[in-house]
Amino acid sequence: MSTQRYNHPVLNEQTLRSIVPQGAIGGLAEYHARIGSTNDRAIELAELNSPHGTLVVAEEQTAGRGRGGRGWWTPSGAGLALSVLLRPGVPATPAVLTGLGALAVCEAIEELGGKPEIKWPNDVLLSGKKTAGVLAEASWVSNALEYVVLGVGVNVRKASLPPSVDFPATCLDEVLGQRISRIDLLASILRNIDRWAGQLDQRELLSAWDARLAYRGQVVSYGKGLQGAIAGLGPEGELSIKMADGLEVNLNESEYNLRLVDREKE
Ligand code: BTN
Repeated sequence: MSTQRYNHPVLNEQTLRSIVPQGAIGGLAEYHARIGSTNDRAIELAELNSPHGTLVVAEEQTAGRGRGGRGWWTPSGAGLALSVLLRPGVPATPAVLTGLGALAVCEAIEELGGKPEIKWPNDVLLSGKKTAGVLAEASWVSNALEYVVLGVGVNVRKASLPPSVDFPATCLDEVLGQRISRIDLLASILRNIDRWAGQLDQRELLSAWDARLAYRGQVVSYGKGLQGAIAGLGPEGELSIKMADGLEVNLNESEYNLRLVDREKE
């Protein structure tokens, strides 16, 4: 299959229209030169009954949000910031949808020759440093998932690296040693989200995510002095950790911050 390459240096309304996939994602697509947060805008659109696949892309975010109440830095021209509204027609957990977002980014980076890994649940690492993050925000009606806004932020140029970070960060240009086209990268991420969102009930997604798990078999700490070796993913995207006594625990709450134990000693 030949992939069309887009060399437009600027992300704008027109280039966005030209790369929206043919499937379910981006039927309704908004481009913003500057916005507070694409996730906030996508949540507004969801509350206005926008359909599955609604897409919001911004060149710059002034109040981008990350996991655990942290901020996310998206200066103009340097990264990618997008949010997709998903109304899954099949049972799906926000954890699995977070994995879907991280997987879509990994596959796009692999097309460029990179070897990304997913630090559970939502960080995409290159050479052990964070290069992208996913923030899935869910709305429930009673116990049923109404929608999820899947927000994806990617560090592409050096200027997209935040002034202060709680985990070592890098960008695609630096690790891949070339100037990456943000348009091609966005097109590829959208195609991948589109493909996985169409087969949410398949085990294939979990196994593709599992195959890219960072720190497999290595000892990590996951808060309050707890440690264990990463064993793999469970059926709902939870992380299995094997404790020193052989017992396995499943982390299914995404507010854990995994850290490699060896790295803590550096
Ligand atoms: C994280 O690693 O903590 C998640 C970062 C998610 C950032 C993206 S950028 C697009 C979308 N809009 C936001 O405000 N946040 C997400």
